[in-house]
Amino acid sequence: MARNKFDIDETLETPFNFAHFKRALVYVKRYKWKMITAFILSAVSAVVALFAPLITKEVVDTAIPMGMNGDEKAVPYIVLLSGLFLLTIIVSVILGNIRQRIMTKAGQMIIYDIRKDLFRHLQELPFQYYDDRPQGKILVRVVNYVNNVSDMLTNGIINFVLEIFNLMFIAIFMFMVDVRLSLVIFAGIPVFILVMVILKNKQRRAWQQVSNKNSNQTAYLAESINCIRVTQSFARENENLGIFRRLSTAYRKVWMKAVTITHFIPFSVDNIRATIDSAIYFVGLLVIGFPAVSLGSILAMSNYSSRFWQPIINIANLYNNFINTIAYLERIFETMDEPVPVKNAEDAYELPEITGKVEFKNVTFAYEEGKNILENVSFTVNPGESVALVGPTGAGKTTIINLISRFYNINDGAVYIDGHDISKVTLHSLREQMGIMLQDSFIFSGTIENNIRYGKLDATEEEIIKASQTVCAHNFIEGLENGYQTEMSEGGSQLSGGQRQLVSFARTLISDPKILILDEATSSIDAKTEKELQTGLNELLKGRTSFIIAHRLSTIRNCDKIMFINNKGITEAGTHEELLAKKGDYYNLYMAQK
Ligand SMILES: Nc1ncnc2c1ncn2[C@@H]1O[C@H](COP(=O)(O)OP(=O)(O)O)[C@@H](O)[C@H]1O
Ligand SMILES: [Mg+2]
Repeated sequence: MARNKFDIDETLETPFNFAHFKRALVYVKRYKWKMITAFILSAVSAVVALFAPLITKEVVDTAIPMGMNGDEKAVPYIVLLSGLFLLTIIVSVILGNIRQRIMTKAGQMIIYDIRKDLFRHLQELPFQYYDDRPQGKILVRVVNYVNNVSDMLTNGIINFVLEIFNLMFIAIFMFMVDVRLSLVIFAGIPVFILVMVILKNKQRRAWQQVSNKNSNQTAYLAESINCIRVTQSFARENENLGIFRRLSTAYRKVWMKAVTITHFIPFSVDNIRATIDSAIYFVGLLVIGFPAVSLGSILAMSNYSSRFWQPIINIANLYNNFINTIAYLERIFETMDEPVPVKNAEDAYELPEITGKVEFKNVTFAYEEGKNILENVSFTVNPGESVALVGPTGAGKTTIINLISRFYNINDGAVYIDGHDISKVTLHSLREQMGIMLQDSFIFSGTIENNIRYGKLDATEEEIIKASQTVCAHNFIEGLENGYQTEMSEGGSQLSGGQRQLVSFARTLISDPKILILDEATSSIDAKTEKELQTGLNELLKGRTSFIIAHRLSTIRNCDKIMFINNKGITEAGTHEELLAKKGDYYNLYMAQK
């Protein structure tokens, strides 16, 4: 996944693959009636606008000479023509506005649909996915890339068709006015296209570079924000500033280049336009000459000429956006197609309400092919029993409990809960009945009360207070400025590690899981508080099967069973007293802590 590091560009040029666009059309099709309405409105508005030059011609060639010849109908005729001229503008503006509203809405709906699908998928992706790439680049995909494609998928599609029609209509109107002058305009097309193709290609590449550098910078920024504590404690600010400066400079350079090219385009387009405009006057006045060509015709043609190039420029722009959009779509769909290794089996069924019996049968597991972490592990835990996992760091304790919630698929053997093979039940029904508490518990932004309610969305205030009391969190919460209504920042940095832990205990208790897992959950709580908590903890454990990983052996000595994990399996198992009597690994560990 090299492309996803912050110092490596995400992409330069991707092969043009129309399939991505076709796939995106699925999202567009849902709003096809909006699209069709908008298209019709635009077409009508464009045609109406094209009558304006014809009216100008009529004023110059007919109405003004009428006035000069003393015809009294001249004034009302000019007023009528002016009224019509004004009407063309008003009608095309109003229709254009309505269309814009419809399209903006469709665009937002499409963004919403794509983002929803992306987010749903991101939530299912394994931890591994997030370990492998910077958060910033994931954010850029969900936020920026999706924004970038919406315009192409709505206005882009409509405008593309529209501009082609527009071009045809303008050509027809031009021929209606004067064929010879139309040919003068047509002669400019090859030069114009050549310039556009060269410049537009350069421009597209330049903007793609901008997007890449922006993605790199965002990725680094997100990483820096996440690890700010580490940065400051290692006094790495200057080095990091250097990295950021390098990324920002790269960004600034490609931005400047892109802007320079972009500004050069209208300049060259205007030059070509002006040249052709003068050619019209030249050919009209000197080569063909009056009265073979009228002054009104020359004015009208000059007007059509300036309108004629706009659709071509627009089509070139659309083509560029189209290619960029395909590149973005590729990134978006790549994320959506990222395989979910742990998912519901085809015929998965809901795990019924469990009593909490857990059974491992000859379980073998490896994170990476060929490197077994667990081999042939078997054990049974009866409902309501508490089990402690102890053993050296890296032995596989966390791995075992990860397998109970099926965060990973096992390579061999089976895990049963209440006799149900967990690979055959739905993930939701499985995990819903588990309570997992980790060493570092996450506090979401919002009130303390809502943080606890996360475990059970319809919990009442009384339930929340009762749960907090049970786990000894009530007193400290009451002591906060606004009690249960105190607003937490993301990550809950106002609280101590231990306090965060207590909040998460309450959150877990309220969800009332039948199986409870505490992975070093009491590590950040001091011995005194832990002792107080012990009562709460005992309350929490009552009637539930529990797995506890703790370094302080005092926390676990009352467990029904202690398993010592080492050498890819369970090396000792028994009660605290049994294991001490055995004078093996557990005994040594216990003596070392005394
Ligand atoms: N996501 C992972 N990918 C690859 N290897 C892992 C992963 N998580 C843990 N490991 C490896 O598996 C082994 C057991 O880890 P773990 O179960 O976390 O140990 P502990 O007993 O300290 O909880 C370690 O050697 C570790 O390097
Ligand atoms: Mg661990």
